Parts: sequence; C-alpha cells; structure tokens
Amino acid sequence: MNVFMTGASGWIGSAVVPELLTAGHSVRGLARSERSAAVLRAAGVEPVAGDLDQLDVLRTAAEAADAVIHLANKHDWSDLAATNRAERAAVQTFCDALEDSGKPFLLASGTAIPVGHTLTELDANPASGPDAPRGGTEALAIEYATRGVRSVALRFAPSVHGAGGDHGFLALLVQAARDHGAAGYVGDGSNRWTAVNRLDAAGMVALALEKATPGSAAHAAAEVLTTRQIAEAIGATLGVPTVPVAPEAVAEHFGWLGPIFAMDLPASADLTRERLGWVPTHPTLAEDLAAGAYTS
Ligand SMILES: NC(=O)c1ccc[n+]([C@@H]2O[C@H](COP(=O)([O-])OP(=O)(O)OC[C@H]3O[C@@H](n4cnc5c(N)ncnc54)[C@H](OP(=O)(O)O)[C@@H]3O)[C@@H](O)[C@H]2O)c1
Repeated sequence: MNVFMTGASGWIGSAVVPELLTAGHSVRGLARSERSAAVLRAAGVEPVAGDLDQLDVLRTAAEAADAVIHLANKHDWSDLAATNRAERAAVQTFCDALEDSGKPFLLASGTAIPVGHTLTELDANPASGPDAPRGGTEALAIEYATRGVRSVALRFAPSVHGAGGDHGFLALLVQAARDHGAAGYVGDGSNRWTAVNRLDAAGMVALALEKATPGSAAHAAAEVLTTRQIAEAIGATLGVPTVPVAPEAVAEHFGWLGPIFAMDLPASADLTRERLGWVPTHPTLAEDLAAGAYTS
C-alpha cells in the first residue's frame, strides 16, 4: 500500500516506518519543517511539506494514498484546547477525504480511558465531541466506519517506553524522581497503568493496517503494572527511595502529570493479540529502566 502518515518523525511513528517498509509498503509523511523532512528522507519516507493545520495538504495527501495513519499531535500541554481543536480538524478532514473509499484510516488514541473496569477493545470511547479529551477524535473516526472508511483506533498505553529518546510520561516520572530524590507513587500505589515497548507498539500498528476491521480498536498494552511497581523500578534505577505521595500533593510532586498518574487505568490487549496475532517481544518497562534507557 501507499501509506500517508502524520507523525512519522515522532517517537512511535519513527518505529512504525521501518515496519511498514519491511512489509513492502511505501510511505509518504507530513513534514512541518526541513529538519523533519530530512529525518523522513533518511528513513526512506517521501516528505509531504505541511503542518497539521494545513487541511488542504492533509486532504490531498489522503486522497492520493491507499491508507492513512495519523500519529501527529501538537502536544501543547499549556493549551490543550487548541491542541484538541487541531486534532479534531485534522481527523475530520481525513474522514471526509476517505469517505466511501473503503480505505484504512488508523488514528492514535490511548488506553487511558477511565471506564471503571479493565478497558477492552470492545469498550467504546466515551469521549465524544470537540471539547472532549483528544477532541473526541476516536469516536468521530469510528462513526465513519459506517460511511465507507476502515477506521481503526490505535489505543497506546500511557507509557510507550524504550531506548533512544522517550520524552513521554515515563521520562517525566523519572525526571520527577530525580528532582525530589525519591520515586513517588500516589496513595497506596495500587492504581494501575499499562505499558508497552515502542517497538511492540509499532508492530501492532503494522498488523492493524493489514488486519483490523472497520470501527475496531486495537490495544498496544503489553503489561499492567501498579504505579507502585513503576515507582519501584524507577527508584531502583536511580538509586533513590520509593515514597508515597499524598493525593493532595500530586501536582507539587509530579506537575501536570500528577492527576493522570493517580488514575486507575487497567486495560487488556487480549483481543488485539487474538485478532491481529500481536505478540509483544521487546523489553518491559522495568527492563528498559534497568538497562539504562532513561539514565544514560
Ligand atoms: N508516546 C506515548 O507514550 C503515547 C501514549 C498514548 C498515546 N500517544 C499518542 O500517540 C501519537 C504519537 O505519539 P508520539 O509519542 O510518537 O508523539 P511525538 O514523539 O511527540 O511525535 C509527534 C509527531 O507529531 C508531529 N507534529 C507535531 N506537531 C505537528 C504539527 N503542527 N504539524 C505537523 N506535524 C506535527 C511531530 O513532528 P516533528 O518531528 O516536526 O516534531 C512528530 O512527528 C500521539 O497522538 C500521542 O498523543 C502516545
């Protein structure tokens, strides 16, 4: 397939690209700068000059492609509303461009969906509408499965970890532990997070492109950990103690990530393993920490 990607130069996207090329696909990728274009060219991707806000560029590239994988996100935590508006506009543009085509449209989402039980692929994402988290884009895209788009939600674990420059949640937790000289967990630390190695997440995306059915969700979540286990792994790596943090002190200890680290977010990937034949094989979160992926 001729695949158009956004976010191909990012943490997850740069691992997805080699999976797609190895599987025999060709890839064109949105590049918002000459630096990103050079990164893409070096990876074997044909750059398409443009920013996420240039909806005409997105539309034209999607129409010319056999499939679209949308992983870019502005991630402006200081203006989440603007980030989510841009995400919504981009996803709406892709869905409209692909309507009635039968083409795959895979978009990034997350397993951080609090549903009160272990999240499965069968749980619909309750976040809908432009003001919802991520601009309600998962629900929007899934609606288009009834309008001739093979839309698939790629729900990544909150920690997509690995060697080579993770700047996501695990890196922030490690930094907080450095700053405080202690690796914290919230309350009794029994609340759960999921994690996945970046390379396993990328493998899941490539499988979803081939096999996922219209309107489905696929979970890149290889393990379920209590947040106390995560703090213990960070503490062991840095050689600092592991400490409880009172719920009212999470913002001071972890910054804006605190309320998210305090959430119970268990998720299963059993159906993804069964439906796609996904088998995670790369290091676990604790193994990556122990190997120095966050300290060297
Ligand atoms: N990493 C995780 O732990 C995790 C967990 C759950 C969900 N997710 C979601 O998965 C997706 C991929 O995450 P990631 O960690 O790979 O993100 P990332 O490393 O921050 O990469 C973001 C990508 O988006 C591109 N981008 C940002 N703003 C853009 C703009 N205005 N116009 C065009 N491109 C733009 C970046 O391009 P440049 O190279 O030019 O910067 C980069 O390729 C995101 O939607 C993220 O929210 C990630």
